Amino acid sequence: MPTALITGINGQDGSYLAENLLQKGYRVVGLVRRSSTQNYERIQHLLDDISIVQGDLHDQGSLLALLEEHQPTEVFNLAAQSFVAVSWSQAVLTGEVTGLGVTRLLEAIRYVNPKIKFYQASSSEMFGKVLEVPQKESTPFYPRSPYGVAKVYAHWMTINYRESFGMFASSGILFNHESPRRGMEFVTRKISDGAVRIKLGQAKELRLGNLEARRDWGFAGDYVEAMWRMLQLEQPGSFVVGTGETHSVREFCEIAFGCLGLDYNDYVVQDERYYRPAEVDLLVADPSLARSVLGWEPSVTFQDLVEMMVSADMQRLSK
Ligand code: NAP
Ligand code: GDD
Repeated sequence: MPTALITGINGQDGSYLAENLLQKGYRVVGLVRRSSTQNYERIQHLLDDISIVQGDLHDQGSLLALLEEHQPTEVFNLAAQSFVAVSWSQAVLTGEVTGLGVTRLLEAIRYVNPKIKFYQASSSEMFGKVLEVPQKESTPFYPRSPYGVAKVYAHWMTINYRESFGMFASSGILFNHESPRRGMEFVTRKISDGAVRIKLGQAKELRLGNLEARRDWGFAGDYVEAMWRMLQLEQPGSFVVGTGETHSVREFCEIAFGCLGLDYNDYVVQDERYYRPAEVDLLVADPSLARSVLGWEPSVTFQDLVEMMVSADMQRLSK
C-alpha cells in the first residue's frame, strides 16, 4: 500500500486530497501544527482513516522524524501561509513557512530517502503582474506580494533539488481553486457566505475591495487529482493547472447574489481596507500541457462553482 504524507491536511486542498488518496487505496499521514484549539473541521469525517502527526514547517527536526517514522512514498507539500493579503503584514513569517519551509522539507527528504516523490504547491500568484496572457509553464514570473515571492523561491528550490540531486520533485502551478471548504477570508467564500447572510437577514451589506480583479477559478476537488497525476508520471516536471477561463470578482458577486434572487449592487460596498498594496489584475491559465500529459480536465464550470458554494452556505447558515 503506498503511503502519502500531506502537509497542510487541515486546509482546503489537504482535505480533498486526503479523500482522493484514501479512495485510491493509500495510507494517508497528515501533518498538522500544534495549536491550543485544534480544529479538524474539514477532515473530521476522515479521522478514523488517516494518521495525524504533529509537526511544523518551521521545525527541521519534526520533519526528519516523521519521514523516518512513516516512510512515505509520496509527499504532498500543501502547507503554507496562503493568504496573500496577510503576507504584507507578516512578510517574514510568510517567507519562513511558504518559502524556506519547502527547503526544510526537501532537505529532510534528501537525508531520509531521496527516492520519495515530492509535490510542491506552487501558485499562479507567481505570475503576478503578468508578462503574457494566458500564462503557461514558460511565462516569466513577476510576483506582486511577499507570498508570491516566497512561492517563486519555493518553486525554484523544487526544480533545483530535481536537477541537482535527481529527486522526483514536481511543481503544480495551480490557479485559484475554491469550494464550500474555502477559508472565509478568501474572496469567493466571503461573497458566498455574505450573500447568504444578507438573504437570511443576518447581515445588511458586504464590504469588498477591488471588484475588477480577474481570476481563473476552478473547483478544488478537481485540482487535487492533477496533483496526484503529476507524481504518477515517469519524469518529474512543472505543470500549469487552471480552467483557461477568467472572471472578475464583480461577476462572482453577480452570480452569487443572482442565484439568491438579489442584485449585488444593492448590498456590496467597496471599502479601501480590502485593497492591496499591489494587485494582481488578471490571471488566466493555458492548461494545454496538463491536458495533454496528465489527461486532466476541470469538471465544474464557473457558474456551477458559484452555485455550489452559495448552496452549501445556505444549508449551513439556515440550520
Ligand atoms: P489553506 O486552506 O490555507 O491551507 C494551508 C494549510 O497549511 C493549513 O492547514 C495550515 O494549518 C497549514 N500550515 C500553515 N502554516 C504551517 C506551518 N508552519 N507548518 C505546518 N502547516 C502549516 O490553503 P489551500 O487553499 O488548501 O492551499 C494549499 C496549498 O496550495 C497552499 O500552499 C497554497 O499556498 C497553495 N495554492 C493554493 C491555491 C488555491 O487557490 N487554493 C492556488 C495555488 C496554490 P492550519 O490549519 O493550522 O492553519
Ligand atoms: N480576500 C479578499 N477579500 N479579496 C478581495 C476582496 C476581499 O474583500 N475584495 C476584492 N478582492 C480581490 C483581491 O484583491 C484579489 O484580486 C482577488 O479578489 C482574489 O483574492 P483572494 O480570494 O484572497 O485570492 P488570491 O488570488 O489573492 O490568492 C489565492 O489564489 C492564489 C492562486 O492564484 C490564494 O488561494 C493563494 O494561496 C493562491 O496561491
